[in-house]
This record gives sequence, C-alpha cells and structure tokens, in this order.
Amino acid sequence: MKVKPSSPSAVPPRWRKDVERVLISDAQLARRVKTLAREIERDFKGRETVVVSLLNGTVLFLADLIRHLNLPLRLDFIGVSSYGLGTESGDLVFTKELRLDVRGRDVLLVDDILDTGKTLSSVLPKLRALKPRRIKTCVLLDKPERRVKNIHADYIGFSIPDVFVVGYGLDFAERYRNLPFVGVLHPQIYKEPVQPVGPK
Ligand code: IMP
Ligand code: MG
Repeated sequence: MKVKPSSPSAVPPRWRKDVERVLISDAQLARRVKTLAREIERDFKGRETVVVSLLNGTVLFLADLIRHLNLPLRLDFIGVSSYGLGTESGDLVFTKELRLDVRGRDVLLVDDILDTGKTLSSVLPKLRALKPRRIKTCVLLDKPERRVKNIHADYIGFSIPDVFVVGYGLDFAERYRNLPFVGVLHPQIYKEPVQPVGPK
C-alpha cells in the first residue's frame, strides 16, 4: 500500500516543534495493521508460528499486529541496533539473541522499517542457520529508494518515500517512539547535536 502524499491529519500541538507533518495517522495505521494481519493469517493457515521481532522499533507495531493474528503463536525477540545517533546506518550490533527453538517451525520475522536492507540481510542468515521450516518477513514500512541490499519483505504495511520518519515505535536517537502516528521530523532536529543515550 502506497502512503498518500499528504495526510489531512494535523500534528498534535505537543509535537509541532519536532514533527513537520503526519505521514501516516493513527487511524490509517490501525486500519492497515488489521488488513496485514488478515493477509498473514491466510498464508499461515492456522499453523503454529514463531513470531521473531526485532527490538526496539517494532514494539508498538508488534503489539497491534499480534492482537489481530488469530494463529497459535509464540513470541521472541532479537535485539539489533543499526544506528548510532544519527539517521545513517552504522554497524550492526546484536544486543539480544533468540531463545526459542525455531527448528522445523514457521517463522514470521517482524521489523519496523526496511531501509537499506542491511539489518534484514544480516538477521536472515542467522535465522536460516537454525533450520526453520520457512521464514516470512513483515515490515510496517518500506523505503525502496534507499535499498543497497537485494532484499524484499513478504508483507509490507506502507511503502514510503525517502524521508526520515519517527513514531509508532520508530526513533531518532531513541526519542519519539511513543508518538501514536508516523511523522516526518523537522530537518533542524538532525542538525542539532544529540546527547548520547544509553548506560552511563
Ligand atoms: P536498514 O538496515 O537500513 O534496512 O534499516 C533498518 C533499521 O534502521 C530499522 O529497523 C530502523 O531501526 C532504522 N531506520 C531506517 N529508516 C528509519 C527511519 O526513517 N526512521 C527511524 N528509523 C529508521
Ligand atoms: Mg532505530
């Protein structure tokens, strides 16, 4: 589903300083997540599924998606971090490994956004090595213009242009994940020096 070029929703006053415009409203997200769940359900045909979700950006999307998935499922996470503080992909760091056994299982791998493709193309071989029956990939957002790896997702919520977005789980320097919509940040936000976050 292509996201409409201009969304009628206004940025809530609380976020106007940081967010230039709403790209995908909470109502659009809710509608699309439901239809995405229907597509996945149809393909998985009631088979027991291991949902493997990448931390941290998937948390809001995942919570909404799985409550609409009428499948017997187990849930696990892989921690992977691809950005330093900016908007460009850095080196990947694994911060949490998978605990559930996926051998012979149907796996649904969930990520927030497919951008350059570096994250999925390093997570997929690790998962394949665990010999699942099959792996399907699901992303909320796809930015096809930025791709450097030859990779696609099986289920895509919205295909978006090359803009840096935050909200509904997506962050800039670990901020803005709690926005209930997907919004485009004011460019001046990237230009300000950001304070490092993480353990002191
Ligand atoms: P990739 O490895 O370049 O495909 O990027 C995937 C990861 O980069 C995602 O899981 C996000 O954490 C992050 N990312 C990519 N584009 C954006 C964006 O527009 N906003 C916030 N995070 C992004
Ligand atoms: Mg991120």
